[in-house]
This record gives sequence, structure tokens and C-alpha cells, in this order.
Amino acid sequence: AVARLTLDPSFAVGPVDRRLFGSFVEHMGRCVYTGVFEPGHPRADPDGLRTDVLDLVRELGVTTVRYPGGNFVSAYRWEDGVGPAGDRPRRLDLAWRSIETNAFGLNEFMRWAGLAGAEPMMAVNLGTRGVAEAAELVEYCNVDGGTAAADLRRKHGVTRPHDIRLWCLGNEMDGPWQIGSRTADEYGRLAARAGHAMKRVDPSIELVACGSSGADMPTFAAWEATVLEHAYDQVDYLSLHTYYDPERYDDASFRASAVHLDAAVDAVLATADHVRARLRRTKYIRLALDEWNVWYQSRLVEPEDRGIEDTPALIEDDFTVTDAMVVGNLLISMLRHADRLAVGCQAQLVNIIAPIRTLPGGPAWRQTIFHPFAHTARLARGTVLRPALTAPVMTTGRYGDVPAVDAVATHDGTRLTVFAVNRGTAPVTLHLDLRAFGGHTPGEHVMLAGDPHLTNTAAHPDRVTPSVHRSTTEVLLPPVSWHAIGFTTEETS
Ligand code: AHR
Repeated sequence: AVARLTLDPSFAVGPVDRRLFGSFVEHMGRCVYTGVFEPGHPRADPDGLRTDVLDLVRELGVTTVRYPGGNFVSAYRWEDGVGPAGDRPRRLDLAWRSIETNAFGLNEFMRWAGLAGAEPMMAVNLGTRGVAEAAELVEYCNVDGGTAAADLRRKHGVTRPHDIRLWCLGNEMDGPWQIGSRTADEYGRLAARAGHAMKRVDPSIELVACGSSGADMPTFAAWEATVLEHAYDQVDYLSLHTYYDPERYDDASFRASAVHLDAAVDAVLATADHVRARLRRTKYIRLALDEWNVWYQSRLVEPEDRGIEDTPALIEDDFTVTDAMVVGNLLISMLRHADRLAVGCQAQLVNIIAPIRTLPGGPAWRQTIFHPFAHTARLARGTVLRPALTAPVMTTGRYGDVPAVDAVATHDGTRLTVFAVNRGTAPVTLHLDLRAFGGHTPGEHVMLAGDPHLTNTAAHPDRVTPSVHRSTTEVLLPPVSWHAIGFTTEETS
């Protein structure tokens, strides 16, 4: 079978926003404790931050990290996690029914983010708390000094403001599982009021309102419309969360998960633009896909069905080659929407459905999904280009017939990278038509392929790694494979 892809430097979608390559650290399971933070680990720094994990985070190329939740944030008191370690309370975390020691909090996270080279994306609790606590947190973080909250931060040894730009107004507030969940009207009003107060503290911050917790929720789209009716003027972004379960639908539907993401992004944008028209506003709302990934969610043991534990090993899924191809394809979908999709946070960073896994006291390793993320974050530069693509079709149970090959490209004037997947079970030869670029020379072709069921484990951490070849304009795409195909082109403006 054959696929044909034609590219032209003028088929521009928009600039590659580096915030698309974000991730997420939640106080959940072993993401923080024995994940990023493990005092006494042989590779921990004097503050207990695991340097082996930090090395992998930098290699992954993560640009933005959302913190501290997730469901966790909806019952969290940020004050518990600042100040002298010995004074911090042990709390029962209601989201995951775990013990939260508060040994790691805001200022530890900010130090970690600085070492990781990542921009923080801070979430406020709009489940059990409200306007005053949200505004006070912005004051603690972003005001230089001379006010109670800012001086408290100074007293905690952080003399310079953290200057956090990006803020989430709560998390998944339509989810019945969320502590303090709300109706769309309740949440929309609260988000508008909290956002208003937070921007009074620091007008330069950017705010993300919660969209519905998923495109399959009964609230989807109606929730977004109502929330924006209330909060359009205060917010800059609307969140979208999406997870794909390899065991929920037929195999082909899972492999074509990016079809679902494309439709979800388009639906949220259409809803936001509908509200824009109704309110007669000129500003466009952009999207923050601030939780996305593959997740074997049907294996989740609900918090109600577990006992209360200290640092439980929750949702530590082992990812396969197929899962990595799907992650690579979701990144292609995200790039395709670069004109309106501004932030992406893969959920989560360490241990929790994560590209990086650790053992307590032991090693850290790269899961299969680490590789397409790391190479996309490294290679996607400049402007996203929309290709003209013809490809053989594959039949899926959920989406009908869809193209077996999906692709997008980026170009920074001379460096062209084509990101492509074969999500079908038959090989496809991909012909690239690059005539519009004038001359071009081959570069690196990074490929992830092989037995679709293979995983990386602590005992076999590098069983699945990409192979690197010289690029050509006639590329064999093996079944279930991910590719980044690079060229150097003549300079174009
Ligand atoms: O990422 C795991 C959980 O999934 C998050 O806490 C929540 O926001 C989502 O439902």
C-alpha cells in the first residue's frame, strides 16, 4: 500500500508553541513521593530531589509542568506545603485516599521546576475553597513583598517572587468524582470571580478555565458554553482532558485515538467561538489540553474501594509499542491544531501513567511513550505545516474508516521534520513530495517500531528504543510505527 504526502512552506497552520510539550506532576500515588522527590535515595540532591529523574525530565524536553493536581488540588490547602518542614501537617488526601505528609510543597516544586528547566502551571483549589484562597496564593507567589502573603514567602526563605504566569482555575469541576464538584453555572460564576480577584493581584497572569472532564461526559460542550458565558472576559484558555484506554474499544479504534482528539478539539473550539459570537467579543479563547495520554483506565481501582495508604502505587501502567505510536499520533494531532491549541500537559510525568518510571531506592527508566514525546519536543520547531495526504484506509469499530497513515510537519526556515504514524497493521510506503522547498538534503529519520506488545521494565529498561536512519522521500512505514523524518531545505521565509 502507498501513501502520498505533499508539503509546501506556505501551508502554515501556526507557530509551534513550546508549551505544547508540557507535563503534569500531581500529588498522587508515587508521582511526587519516590518519583521526583525521595530524600535518602542514592541519586537525591541535598533537598531530596532525584537527580536521575531530573536528567530524564530534561531529556524528555518537558517545557511546562502543571501542579499540584488533578483531583488532588480540589481539597488541597497550599499553606500546608510551605514553611518549616517540621511544622507541616499530615493530612488525609480525599482525592486518592492517601496520606499527604506535605514534605513536598509549592517551594520545593518551584525549585524542582527550575532545575528541570520547565515553566510552572499552577492550579488553585476551587473544590473546597474559593476566591480568597486563590487570590492569596497568587499574592504568595507573585508579589515581591510588603504584603502579608508575600512576606510569608520571604519568611519561608524565598526572597524573589516565583512569578508564575499560567494558572488553572480548579480541576475537572463537572466530574462527580471531584471533591466539591459543581454545576456549570456554579463553576462559571466562581471561576469568573476567582479569576477577577487573581488578576487584580497580578494582571499579567494567564488563566485556564475547566472545560468538561472529557468529550464523552454528558456535560461536554454544554458545560463549556455555560462556563464561558460567565467567565469569557476573565479567562484566556479552556481546558480539555482526554485519555485513551487500549482495552475499552477494539484494537483499531485505540490505534486511531487521534481521530477522537481531532474531533474533541474542534468541538471545544466551535463551542468557544459560539460563545464569542453570542457575547460579541473579539478575543479568541485558546485551548489547554492539560491532561492527555494513554491510560488503561478500566484497570483503575476506585479510591472508595481501597484502604487509606501512604504513597500507594497507583495506575503505574506499563506502556507498549502500540501505546507509544498512539502517543506520537496524539502529538501529531496537537501540532495540527497549533493555531488554537496553546498548552499540552501529558498526564503524568513520573510513575502515574508516565513516560518515566522509578523504583523506590532503585533506578529510573524510560517507558516506550518517552521516545515519541522526547523526539517531537526536540524536533518540532518553527511553523507547523498542514500536509496534503492520501493514504489507505483502515476500518475501526468506533470511527468507521479512517486513514491508516497520519502526518504533520514543522519547518523553521531550513529544518523540515515530517512526523508520521502508520496506525494500521499492514506496511505502507510513504512518498514525500517536497518540490515546493526547492532543494533538500537528507537528515535523520527516527523510527519507533517492532513487536507492538513490547514494553520497557526495570529489568529491561531499553528493550524498546527508536532506531535512527538516513531520511529519504520514499519511506517504508512498518505496521504500528511512529516516525520523525528530517531534511534540510533551502532557506524559505
Ligand atoms: O491524571 C489522573 C487524574 O485523571 C487526575 O487527577 C484527574 O484530573 C483526571 O481525572
